[in-house]
Amino acid sequence: MTSIPETMTAIGMAAPGGPDVLRPETRPVPKPGPGQILVAVAAAGVNRPDVLQRQGGYNPPPGASDIPGLEFAGTVVAQGEGANRFAIGATVCALVAGGGYADYAVVDESNALPAPKGLTLTEAGAIPETFFTVWTNVFQRGRLQAGESFLVHGGSSGIGTTAIQLAKAFGATVIATAGSEDKCAACRELGADHAINYRTEDFVAAAKAMTGGRGTDLILDMVGGDYIDRNYELAADQGRIVQIAFLNGPKATVNFSRLMLKRLTHTGSTLRPRTVPEKAAIAAELHAKVWPLLEAGRCKPLIHATFPLAQAAEAHRLMESSAHIGKIVLTV
Ligand SMILES: NC(=O)c1ccc[n+]([C@@H]2O[C@H](COP(=O)([O-])OP(=O)(O)OC[C@H]3O[C@@H](n4cnc5c(N)ncnc54)[C@H](OP(=O)(O)O)[C@@H]3O)[C@@H](O)[C@H]2O)c1
Repeated sequence: MTSIPETMTAIGMAAPGGPDVLRPETRPVPKPGPGQILVAVAAAGVNRPDVLQRQGGYNPPPGASDIPGLEFAGTVVAQGEGANRFAIGATVCALVAGGGYADYAVVDESNALPAPKGLTLTEAGAIPETFFTVWTNVFQRGRLQAGESFLVHGGSSGIGTTAIQLAKAFGATVIATAGSEDKCAACRELGADHAINYRTEDFVAAAKAMTGGRGTDLILDMVGGDYIDRNYELAADQGRIVQIAFLNGPKATVNFSRLMLKRLTHTGSTLRPRTVPEKAAIAAELHAKVWPLLEAGRCKPLIHATFPLAQAAEAHRLMESSAHIGKIVLTV
């Protein structure tokens, strides 16, 4: 039986600010409540929403840990009352609304999944946030079907690298946009049929040409701003546009006539504030439909860099530089 200490190291932040506000602190080890498991964290993924949280623009929802970190992988060390899905010693990865940047973290067992066989715990810790987000936005809200065309902006991001692989694995023609030739090459290596360097090419004209003038059936957008009008221009008749962020701002001047004339659907969602049962439903679909792909080696998180937990500030600096391709992970 593993002995569980009373205290642990976690990354805290005294006030919103730059990367240096992220500092190791000593915190009590959390106790698993009913239906929860306590996990000794081996790896915690870093995500762009963590940067927003650090800057003070994305506070944890009520009841969530103030410790940053939306995902982790590790070993189950304790079970709360009624938690029986994972044995002590099982390796899992999990989606949380906070608490991942720590030696130990608690999660409702329904929001955890077995660490996929054949992947390291570092890889497993880089899965939940982007796989849950892509599944719910591309396949549930966006209704992507085999044979359709799919464009993802930010193709080299953690989200983008996951979206390319899953859309391809489920039979779509995949176009990615990214901000450099190296990033475009990485998108193609991951399976994108086409990649557009948006700094040198107009993505609307390029993607129209790639789809024989038809436009794309589904667009996953994290940029917003002037992309909103351009996405409407690019979308095929009855196309769908799913908004998951507004890196270039949430306000835009848009010619909405295309929404009507092309019978478009423009939707969006955020993952973090959803209820535990809603996240559990996404987890169940991922387990049934995506875990077999992960375990067969047909997709995997692309790890750009790892940092020890205590160097969370360095990890955030790298993410903010946007030099990375794929995921940045903290190891414990
Ligand atoms: N709605 C949800 O539930 C949800 C969940 C998770 C993440 N997200 C969002 O999805 C986005 C991607 O997250 P991630 O963790 O995968 O991010 P990431 O790995 O840090 O990648 C973001 C990439 O976006 C591109 N980009 C385009 N315009 C940008 C701009 N104005 N500012 C900064 N980067 C810009 C950059 O690459 P280029 O060089 O190609 O420009 C950058 O590398 C974030 O906006 C995040 O907030 C939403």
